[in-house]
Amino acid sequence: MTLKTIEWKDNAVIMIDQTKLPNILEYVTYTEYNQVADAIRTLVIRGAPAIGVSGAFGLALASLQCKATKKSELISYLENAKKILFETRPTAVNLGWGLDKIMEVANNANTVEEIRTNVIEYAKKMANDDVQINMEMGKNGSKLFNDNDTIMTHCNAGALATVGYGTALGVIRATKDSGKNVKVIATETRPIQQGSRLTAFELKHDGIDVSLIPDTAVGYSMANGLVDKIVVGADRVLRTGHVYNKIGTYQVATMAHQHNVPFYVAAPLSTFDMKSNPEDVIIEQRKGSEVTGIGDKKTAPDGIDVINPAFDMTPPEFITGIITEKGIAKPPFENSIKSFFE
Ligand code: MRU
Repeated sequence: MTLKTIEWKDNAVIMIDQTKLPNILEYVTYTEYNQVADAIRTLVIRGAPAIGVSGAFGLALASLQCKATKKSELISYLENAKKILFETRPTAVNLGWGLDKIMEVANNANTVEEIRTNVIEYAKKMANDDVQINMEMGKNGSKLFNDNDTIMTHCNAGALATVGYGTALGVIRATKDSGKNVKVIATETRPIQQGSRLTAFELKHDGIDVSLIPDTAVGYSMANGLVDKIVVGADRVLRTGHVYNKIGTYQVATMAHQHNVPFYVAAPLSTFDMKSNPEDVIIEQRKGSEVTGIGDKKTAPDGIDVINPAFDMTPPEFITGIITEKGIAKPPFENSIKSFFE
């Protein structure tokens, strides 16, 4: 069993507090949507699919918190909760996707009781579907990897970034489960170490061979033939094949291009944004203290200016294929991605 990141139990949301990993595996329980919003903002839960489901569960909590007796009152309460949840993080498209789906379910119901029941059931379904979709994606992606491949990944696109199983790490799990021997190289992913704290933790937890490298050893690893293939997750994929993912993904992809290493992205269709253009996408900027220290230890002079974007964009020309639950999109991405939505 892989780790279960988030679930609905007894009218509450339970999630792993990822800020405590890898040292403490602790679960937190929330009964108010504002607590879920704080959890997304402070990275108690993170990763595009996981925050999509968190948003849905947040609205399910809001439907229980609101004591309205008229449908219109409950809908306006949910609209306000949706706004607060939506504003927590701007880049991952799954958050808006999860919130919109739940609002659609709420609007289609007739009474306040029906809204509550349907919204909770649908949010639970989204959580279950997430795991099934990841397994489907894993099966599709596993065909791209060979026995004894060493696979590099960046950030955490695993069970911890989803409800369970993972996107990029789901592909690695499925490859291993298909009987192939695989090794993983995980980047530490500065500044907040999702690679060393989360990817290394969950792969070790599941008994998958993993070596950790500093982000600065990406070029060295490829230049010295240590990497056969790369697979990463995504926070947003545009219809053109532009991929937004954790800061540093662009550097990994550029190095892969330079060294002819196949570079794959694994993302469910809920991560695709078929409307936006690159200039529309907001890149989240995070606080400077994530860069000026490691944990509680200060590693930079006081008052230093910091640039700390959370995500970057990898252009389609550096991407070998995008693995989805519907199949693998290959260049030209405009055509292959479009076919998944027809
Ligand atoms: O800032 P984070 O930790 O939420 O960033 C997560 C990533 O960039 C993941 O690679 C992405 O969400 C894909 S998760 C399946």
